[in-house]
Amino acid sequence: MAQSWDAAQYARQGRFVADMAGGVFDLLAAQAGETILDLGCGDGALTAKIAATGARVVGVDSSASMVEAARGLGLEAHLLPGDELTFDGEFDAVFSNAALHWMHNQDAVLAGVKRALKPGGRFVAEMGGHGNIASIRVALAAVFADWGLDAYGMDNNFFPTATDYRARLEAAGFSVETIALIPRPTPLPETGMRGWLETFRRGLLDRLPEQHREAAIEKTVALLKPVLHSPEEGWVADYVRLRFAAWVLVASP
Ligand code: BEZ
Repeated sequence: MAQSWDAAQYARQGRFVADMAGGVFDLLAAQAGETILDLGCGDGALTAKIAATGARVVGVDSSASMVEAARGLGLEAHLLPGDELTFDGEFDAVFSNAALHWMHNQDAVLAGVKRALKPGGRFVAEMGGHGNIASIRVALAAVFADWGLDAYGMDNNFFPTATDYRARLEAAGFSVETIALIPRPTPLPETGMRGWLETFRRGLLDRLPEQHREAAIEKTVALLKPVLHSPEEGWVADYVRLRFAAWVLVASP
């Protein structure tokens, strides 16, 4: 079952995703007058921040609820999966935050991003990288095993190494300026690990019969508390980012 999104729930539990995106936003360095595609724009929080630079921004997302929320901010947003982009040579930059790891056909994503860019355009993005949410994944695997289920096998995220993603970018015709894994411990809002699981692991939890979901959440939270929670800092998730900037190679004459 695919992950589904509810923009209202995301606004309560997932605001930190945009709030912590300063690094990749700075790397984009959007300029007034540029035309930028926000790939996986979600509810438009970062899209609006890019628009505030004076750039023209178009958002795309595969969730109708998120697209509606982005449009509600007055943004141009389209319902479009990342691996079905239809743009052709229109953008100075493609930006993406915390979205690529949900997309299944990475080769189609990168081909569509390249096609969307003008010659010499840039692709600046951040996604979950190798080792992202490692302890959360291990805890879920242990809990799901109690019901005879393989949580790793049902996990629909892609968290590549820098070496893997550099090779994909280069194969798709990009020149990679910078790419690195960045550990980023991520404080969670007051709803803690329960709120995180209910928001970001809905797709996985929905695979359990409804009467077992509450027990699964409680067991996962209990397993994780000794390693991801402290009285001083509350819940801090073990995020690892993969951040990169890559340029479309301009064919020599
Ligand atoms: C993230 O790395 O942003 C992420 C990945 C999977 C679930 C939730 C968040």
